Amino acid sequence: MLLTDDAPHQGSHRPIGSPFLRDIVHGLSQHPKATPPIWFYDRRGSELFDAITNLPEYYPTRTETALLARHGPDFRAAIGTGRAVIEFGAGSARKTPHLLAAIEPAAYVPIDISGDYLAESSAALAQGFPGLPVLPLVADFMTPVALPPAVAALPKLGFFPGSTIGNMEPAAAVDLLRGMRGSLGDGSMLLIGMDRIKDRAILIPAYDDAQGVTAAFNLNLLQRVNRELDGDLPVDAFVHRAIWNDDAARIEMHLEAQRDIAFNINGMRFTMQAGETIHTESSHKYGSRDSRLLLRAGGWNPAREWTDEDGLFSLILAKG
Ligand code: AVJ
Repeated sequence: MLLTDDAPHQGSHRPIGSPFLRDIVHGLSQHPKATPPIWFYDRRGSELFDAITNLPEYYPTRTETALLARHGPDFRAAIGTGRAVIEFGAGSARKTPHLLAAIEPAAYVPIDISGDYLAESSAALAQGFPGLPVLPLVADFMTPVALPPAVAALPKLGFFPGSTIGNMEPAAAVDLLRGMRGSLGDGSMLLIGMDRIKDRAILIPAYDDAQGVTAAFNLNLLQRVNRELDGDLPVDAFVHRAIWNDDAARIEMHLEAQRDIAFNINGMRFTMQAGETIHTESSHKYGSRDSRLLLRAGGWNPAREWTDEDGLFSLILAKG
């Protein structure tokens, strides 16, 4: 998972200008209230996300992993060997080895904003691929990144699994894809995971599981605010909601206040009425044509697509 494990901080107060505080205060001052999903992933949030990926209801991780495991020979034929694989996000021990084994890259560059997590996961991956240069890069891939000089002359394959692109509004997704195209350069390719539009009887439980792990993941954001931003949000006054927004083709996660409440964050006062929500995440889903249109808008030409037999999840290979 990317963006895990925000840098450890000292004490319970962050400086006024911390990005976390700024995002939360800004988000809770909007109407309707909405906060960016990157702040889910403190240590506890990363553990909860990991637990989500193993839930029976959460199909994306196991479906994408199975696609990566199954289509190795196809990837090798379509991508070839000897590229530099640039992964946007720290590599997953479950997914990345399948790709690396299939296409025998000349180098592997995982990019993640969390240095600790990146160091751990790259070391684990490097162990399985002796002789492969692994060059982790601590950076925010949401802004254009300069790749290590060692891979400058190599043809690139961008790898962006997990349907992480789904967290972005379409306009931001297009900007990100264009940034990746610029970073990866001419002759590059992109292998990207995208979650499909499907029956809400499958979608909703994937984001509102029976064991309540996703609810705990969502509510952890409030606990994190209380812990790190000197907050006193009444966590027990909130419930987790997952809704399908058909117009925008996305699952939305919200935290809904069950009664009128008032709380403070870093000395600032906020109020919510019973029934009011904080929109904490959007997870956009893409039909087959939608995904190709998004890629084209982002400067990529779709070349191949691999989808499981139930049409749940797709891996798309595009050329720059
Ligand atoms: C990591 C953004 C792909 O949207 O499915 C899982 C995050 N949120 N359950 C997703 C998530 C709630 C996940 N992504």
